Amino acid sequence: MLEHDAVALPAVIQGGMGVAVSAWPLARAVAATGQLGVVSGTALDAVLARRLQDGDPGGHMRAALAAFPVPEIAERVLDRYFRADGRAPGTPYAPVPRLRLRQDRHVQELTVAANFAEVWLAKRGHQGLVGVNYLDKIRMALPAAAYGAMLAGVDVVLAGAGIPRELPMLLSALARHEPVSVPVDVIGAAEGRRYAVSLDPAALSGHAAPPLKRPVFLAIVSAHVLAEYLARDPAIRPDGFVIEGPAAGGHNAPPRGRLTLDEDGQPRYGSRDVADLTRLAGTGLPFWLAGSYDTPARLAEARAGGAAGVQVGTLFALCQESGLRADLRSQLLGQAREGTLRVRTDPAASPTGFPFKVAQLPGTLADPERYAMRPRLCDLGHLRVPYERGNGSVGYRCPGEPVHTYLRKGGDAADTSGRSCLCNALLANVGLGQTRHGGGYAEDPLVTLGSGFDGVSAMLERHPSGWSAAQAVTWLLFDSRRRSPGTRETVTDCDG
Ligand SMILES: Cc1cc2nc3c(=O)[nH]c(=O)nc-3n(C[C@H](O)[C@H](O)[C@H](O)COP(=O)(O)O)c2cc1C
Repeated sequence: MLEHDAVALPAVIQGGMGVAVSAWPLARAVAATGQLGVVSGTALDAVLARRLQDGDPGGHMRAALAAFPVPEIAERVLDRYFRADGRAPGTPYAPVPRLRLRQDRHVQELTVAANFAEVWLAKRGHQGLVGVNYLDKIRMALPAAAYGAMLAGVDVVLAGAGIPRELPMLLSALARHEPVSVPVDVIGAAEGRRYAVSLDPAALSGHAAPPLKRPVFLAIVSAHVLAEYLARDPAIRPDGFVIEGPAAGGHNAPPRGRLTLDEDGQPRYGSRDVADLTRLAGTGLPFWLAGSYDTPARLAEARAGGAAGVQVGTLFALCQESGLRADLRSQLLGQAREGTLRVRTDPAASPTGFPFKVAQLPGTLADPERYAMRPRLCDLGHLRVPYERGNGSVGYRCPGEPVHTYLRKGGDAADTSGRSCLCNALLANVGLGQTRHGGGYAEDPLVTLGSGFDGVSAMLERHPSGWSAAQAVTWLLFDSRRRSPGTRETVTDCDG
């Protein structure tokens, strides 16, 4: 059954970058060039709530909420979070409810509305394609987040950080507004006990609605073996793949085999971590390469190897439309100009347990002194995982929370060492960091970037004071077209 129209996907995908680094202005700028602009769908509940509490400068959130198909939901979100005058200096943001297996209406409404708003804004004013990026690890948000993005007509959903096998069926069911239930792993669950997170779209909106467009689904994976596994079964088969190598920004897959560290404490990657392009082509599905595929030559190389194109992150994270705080972006560009920009693959920083790329920037949690000064706490909780207590009830824990709390919840002390609170730090990266009562300390950022800077160096030569997303796209495509003719990949298959 063909549930989405044939969609011609372009050669350049601007990678989803959370939290709100690839927010709507960046995705919109890329989509307007005819390439695929992707908003990050991670923690958009907190992003929307905080933008509204800051007075919604420019009125963008309110404009998007005014277009939300269920006005009562939009009104409830505004009532709860919008502050016309913003926050008084030193005032903390109000909390948003944390993700759990059983979600009350308020959590789902906020998540649906927030994903709708981000995609709706990214799609305005052009005919280009817009995607949204999710982390499979944050499963508990998936149904409501994907439904919100689909209500805004998202063209492509991309998900990695896990084995995104549930997405194809989830998207098809949500397109029909059917109730969905996505399985969630619960640590220590008693034999035979299954857990899931559910959403009933019709109950949420209160009325029947015409079917939605079923977006194309691209699975982000690192290994051809996983791609082959997903491609084999029509029920879990994506429409294509993004293949992320170890140089990519954000989270990386751990090296295959036994983990060994280099002299700088970074995971060592080897030839086994390079995906086999012939085997990928053998899946019959289109694929895009990511991780230092950031120059025209690399794009041409990817195409010559059978890829439909490339997914690029760092080059866009440092461009003018990026959501990164201006001071951080300017520091990073300064370091890149001087040749001192260093990115370390930290095996411990992320509570997910995946290696995480960290830009070594003074004044951020990459600095051991700043890291040591931050009191451990977990109040956003997007990376919490559910676990079963002795009495059969479900609790939630994160290795980034206070050690004694984590241990009390049955966690292992070894998991807590070196962990950063990514939720708070990533929101600080985009100017939405929390300020605390009492001491009034503000959360520090922790910036992630990819470890390859060829594209950044080349763009700095051409545009010493910085570049726009359109300039990056033009450069990538113009030069690579001289190497191989540009084509678009048409995705016509879907879940069956
Ligand atoms: C600042 C930043 C944040 C990122 N966040 C995410 C994310 O939330 N989800 C994801 O799948 N990939 C994320 N990535 C990876 C990018 O989408 C992309 O695949 C990767 O950066 C490509 O490698 P490159 O940076 O060498 O171009 C992030 C990358 C950067 C630089």
